[in-house]
Amino acid sequence: METKVRRIGILTSGGDAPGMNAAIRAAVRNCIHHGITPIGIRRGYNGLIQGDTFEMDARSVNNLSNRGGTILYTARCKEFTTPEGVQQAVRTCRYAGIDGIIAIGGDGTFRGAGKLSEAGINTVGVPATIDNDIGCSHYTIGFDTAANTAIECIDKLSDTMQSHERASVVEVMGRHAGHLAVYVGLAVGATAILVPEFPVNLERDVIEKVREGRYRGKHHFLIIVAEGVGKCDEIAQQIEAATGIDARVSILGHIQRGGSPTARDRTMAARMGHTAVEELAKGHTDLVVCYRDSHIVTIPIAEALRMTKPLDPYMYKVAYDVSI
Ligand code: F6P
Repeated sequence: METKVRRIGILTSGGDAPGMNAAIRAAVRNCIHHGITPIGIRRGYNGLIQGDTFEMDARSVNNLSNRGGTILYTARCKEFTTPEGVQQAVRTCRYAGIDGIIAIGGDGTFRGAGKLSEAGINTVGVPATIDNDIGCSHYTIGFDTAANTAIECIDKLSDTMQSHERASVVEVMGRHAGHLAVYVGLAVGATAILVPEFPVNLERDVIEKVREGRYRGKHHFLIIVAEGVGKCDEIAQQIEAATGIDARVSILGHIQRGGSPTARDRTMAARMGHTAVEELAKGHTDLVVCYRDSHIVTIPIAEALRMTKPLDPYMYKVAYDVSI
């Protein structure tokens, strides 16, 4: 006989991402649609360990889809990586009557979700990170907004850099992955894109392209560097030394994680948050909600964690070929 799910806890964990709030809203509203009480958990797994939970209702998520950040706060929780931490979290669930958890975040969040599931708490993960580096899902909530924010900043930067005929070396986020850098680089018409996945030769692939660009009449050069490559100061100095072109470094940093989510992030978050509740309401557990080939699907957590997402070589090639 299927046991009725009564209370679903919702948490956000890891780096925040625009659209997390829209996912929370969809999960809360779909809980209510099913007659389930949604429980907010503050500061990710920390809140679960410390019992920092509160009942939510339909009105507690009013006007939320358009807001960046996460109203539940977020954190990275070392304690939850220990068996004692997990046991304490399970005790909170029992005490608060929580019989299902939605964990919104990146792969660290899903590792935690897997442990909770193993410990007997039905748990479903929802992928949200601006890095878009979750192997099982072709898209992660927050990527589109972060890319658009980076593009807007770089467009502004281009105005001043163009006026001074400078080279801009711009670092974008992405931790160890270059998805954001390639996407942004293609969108802004970068002269070169440096990502950890495809090592480049600075002289041949960057400096020579700048020289060639100048010969063809270019006045401004955008070099997009993924965070995982770093060394922007060194790169700028070498460009300047080799070409005589004035070079400046801009590190976009955390500004990329803020702001009102785009339509893509809001709708993706709504679909994923809704699906997470559907799965828990059916008594399912140990799953990650994924976007694959234009569909929302679910994949077992262990399998999801084994999957990798290589950088799109075609997108990189397009950016390279049109950067002359
Ligand atoms: O994972 C998202 C992300 O913004 C990465 O791109 C970046 O490397 C990291 O988080 C920064 O983390 P923190 O906010 O802890 O400095």
